[in-house]
Amino acid sequence: MNFSKLFLSATLAQCLSLPIRAALPDSVYVFPYPTTNDKGRRGMQLVWSTDREQWHDVAGGMVFLKCDFGPWKHVYRPQLVQDRTDGRWHCFWDLTPDGSAMGSSSSTDLIRWKPQEFFMADEKSRHEVKNARMPVADTVQVGDKTIAGFALKVPYGIVEGLERHGVYRSALNAQRGERAEHDAARFAGLQTVSARITVDEGRAKPISEDLIGVFFEDLNYAADGGLYAELVQNRDFEYSETDGNKDKSWNNRYAWSVEGKGMTFDVSTEQPVHPNNPHYAVLDVAQPGGSFTNTGFDGIAVKEGEKYDFSLFTCTPDGKGGGKSVVRLVDPQGKTVAETTVKLSSKTWKKREAVLKATATVAQARLVIIPQSAGRYALDMISLFPQKTFKGRKNGLRADLAQAIADIRPRFVRFPGGCLAHGDGVDNIYHWKETIGPLEARKPAANIWRYHQTRGLGYFEYFQFCEDIGAEPLPVVAAGVPCQNSGIGGPSHHSKDIVTSLGQQGGIPMEEMGQYVQDVLDLIEYANGDAKTTRWGRERAKAGHPEPFNLKYIGLGNEDLISRVFTERFTMIYEAVRAKYPDIVVIGTTGPSCEGTDYEEGWALADRLKLPMVDEHNYNTPGWYINHQDYYDHYDRSKSKVYLGEYAAHAPGRVNNMETALSTALYLTSIERNGDVVSMASYAPLLAKEGRTQWTPDLIYFNNTDVRLTTDYYVQQLFGRNSGSEYLPSTVLLDRKEKNVRNRVGVSVVKDGESGDLIVKLVNLLPVAVKTDVEIPSLAGHQAVGRKTVLSGRPSDTNAVPVESAMEIGEKFPYEMPAYSFTVIRIKRECK
Ligand code: AHR
Repeated sequence: MNFSKLFLSATLAQCLSLPIRAALPDSVYVFPYPTTNDKGRRGMQLVWSTDREQWHDVAGGMVFLKCDFGPWKHVYRPQLVQDRTDGRWHCFWDLTPDGSAMGSSSSTDLIRWKPQEFFMADEKSRHEVKNARMPVADTVQVGDKTIAGFALKVPYGIVEGLERHGVYRSALNAQRGERAEHDAARFAGLQTVSARITVDEGRAKPISEDLIGVFFEDLNYAADGGLYAELVQNRDFEYSETDGNKDKSWNNRYAWSVEGKGMTFDVSTEQPVHPNNPHYAVLDVAQPGGSFTNTGFDGIAVKEGEKYDFSLFTCTPDGKGGGKSVVRLVDPQGKTVAETTVKLSSKTWKKREAVLKATATVAQARLVIIPQSAGRYALDMISLFPQKTFKGRKNGLRADLAQAIADIRPRFVRFPGGCLAHGDGVDNIYHWKETIGPLEARKPAANIWRYHQTRGLGYFEYFQFCEDIGAEPLPVVAAGVPCQNSGIGGPSHHSKDIVTSLGQQGGIPMEEMGQYVQDVLDLIEYANGDAKTTRWGRERAKAGHPEPFNLKYIGLGNEDLISRVFTERFTMIYEAVRAKYPDIVVIGTTGPSCEGTDYEEGWALADRLKLPMVDEHNYNTPGWYINHQDYYDHYDRSKSKVYLGEYAAHAPGRVNNMETALSTALYLTSIERNGDVVSMASYAPLLAKEGRTQWTPDLIYFNNTDVRLTTDYYVQQLFGRNSGSEYLPSTVLLDRKEKNVRNRVGVSVVKDGESGDLIVKLVNLLPVAVKTDVEIPSLAGHQAVGRKTVLSGRPSDTNAVPVESAMEIGEKFPYEMPAYSFTVIRIKRECK
């Protein structure tokens, strides 16, 4: 890890720049206070003083502790005490303005903190430090604010350490802030750079063959309204105010309306088609002529000549009336572009089906249902699917989007998230069993991203998609705790106070954990169990897939707060899976970032449990990726393997452009080099519907008719299609010594075990070309045929696309890397 290296250089810089103070005090007072103007949302800052009169900022006002509790994350009234027994510093703070709930953590240096504990103030005695050195009450002027708090004496060395840490953070921030827009100044006068690259096939090492995959989460309308090909929005009438959507009309009636006279529309729960789907529409038709309309997801896109499967569940609750209904697709001008009829007469719920054939291409059609007789009709699960889904699957996926994913050639698909997997509160945790079986029996749910999940794209469909594109399935299940930011989803069924209502909410109660552990074991049985002799294997067979899905991996937890509550539950689940399915690779989690408490504690837990793999997340700036290509070089090869489950370069404006694409391409060359410790990596998130995004940047953007691939997509695709099973070390001799130049040139050479092809990847993030002379001695005696694919453009370009061409290859060959480019050279060799 780079921390110590950077820390040492920062320490040195600090030593050189610190004023030499004579007669330093042995100890000084430190006074913690919440960040001002945001009620401690950014966390806790410190000032120090020798006399409690003159106070000085510590490290320029740096934040040393952030609260991790729920969605608020406030630090109110922080107080430091010291445990006399072991010298540790403990911080206590209020989570609420009224002080009814508290947080605590401890540290040896006030920089690195142990996992935070949250408790009600009346339980404080259980958390108190027994043999504590207590602070004194004081009032300090910070800027224009007078703050009442507590000052504690600490050795002066502690403050020096904090100051040094401030220097380290500043150095890190300067690196993180490096942007291509400063390249003209940074590289003023830089002419062409030359490089000699010598590839040593003799020192090849095996690397993961599953390195490049995709991360799928129903975020940005990725599933409903996106990959899941259903065209009717709110087909189940289960949209609800509790989904948390900002739209005031977001309720059971969303996307539906009645046009014309003689008909009313109500939502009932009296006699649902299935208890999991309690709401349904009731149309009271006094006089035929009115129509019941669905607007789809921002319209329904249909293509001339194509067929669409329409279906609905219907009954006549009064047992009277009935007859037929016309079903149409109409364009925005009201012109019919497809028409059919279905029967509505049935005393009990009955599924009716029909096919609509479009006579025109329309981007924004509506679905219209026109009952032909007076009566009272109950309708539910009103659905419209294109027949042309990906691989023609029923209840299938949008063909163009699924194809775009398949075209990356991902070796694995992670699903169903992200935050969606552990959910907004205990009651919103994603339970896979609720997502399989007949669609009307699946349990819809609020989506943590503030919309609705039909669960029509459920575990069966995910597994099937993986199989269809030849990718390993990588389901991620909650580790018995919900997202640490939970709060909007409301309290859980066992909440009793603030602490159990927000954040991890105390996790799934222990008395329910037995069932939860069983659910995780059942998932593995569902994927792999025998179709005849196991209960969940039979369920899979019933869905049409008697053969196992050959599940190898399971993710346990998603960038969780590594709290006591988490650790207890994670360990229970992990031990149970290991005991029953020792061959399944359980992937742990190390928090949301590549450093900090959760990262350290996640790794400590992985070490203790000897986990086969951990999921690291690292959203960072282009500057960070450029400057940390050695991040995995120093990882201990004897420890858990790494799944870099979520990463993306975030530049200002959260754009996808050549700068973000090339900085991750550069980083990916270092990931290939470390493909013996990094087993898998997935850019995140994958999909985003234009106008419906909650998170950017994403890999693929789409609307109802088109798919837009990003520069970052092409990088993933070039790595996915050109991955290897062996890494071939190479020597790269540049004619420039400057670090800024050297760390913007990336080289990775791999060998594809199946075809025997050598693949040279060259990244140039410099504003000038790099003239390379490539030497591959092992090509001697072979006839080599090369093809190169080049992605290049200005750093701010968003529309660059890769260009492929033939290339002459020999044992030695020249190649000029264009400024700001990524080149993949694929070499086939044959004997001469
Ligand atoms: O990828 C988007 C979100 O980022 C994921 O849901 C979460 O795991 C991470 O914070």
